Amino acid sequence: MVIRRILTAEEPILRERAKRVTQFDASLHRLLDDMLETMRDAPGIGLAANQIGVGLQVAVIELEDRVTELVNPQLVRQSGEVIDWEGCLSIPGFVAEVKRHARVTVKAKDRYGKEFRVKGEELFARALQHEIDHLNGILYIDHLESLEELVRVTEAPSEVETEATAGI
Ligand code: NI
Repeated sequence: MVIRRILTAEEPILRERAKRVTQFDASLHRLLDDMLETMRDAPGIGLAANQIGVGLQVAVIELEDRVTELVNPQLVRQSGEVIDWEGCLSIPGFVAEVKRHARVTVKAKDRYGKEFRVKGEELFARALQHEIDHLNGILYIDHLESLEELVRVTEAPSEVETEATAGI
């Protein structure tokens, strides 16, 4: 496994819609393995493939020792709203309060091409929405009314130092 460089927000690939995966082969498995390693090294709780320069619909999330690999993920159900702090590995050093759906259901394929559904709430729901946004070229700052809502991590209230602010 190889730790890859995480791109920051000004890189054009982060603004492009990622392509669907059609080949569930060794190179996809290598990509997923590298993404997990890169995310853990950062450290973060989620990473999308375009954040390491690969324009494919692939993302990984790790929360409470549970790894979720998502290939071609789609939001199929959402309900509720919640505002909470959020950060991104591609926007290091900053966090903001972002409104997200409280509960989501996502349909995706696993690394072998088998379809599955996963339900999430709280931070897992937030991470799922954040990663699907990445694969559509959307960053969390796009949900803010103004970039002045961004807060430096070092100046954020202490209760903000949660997993979410480590970066998704
Ligand atoms: Ni992110």
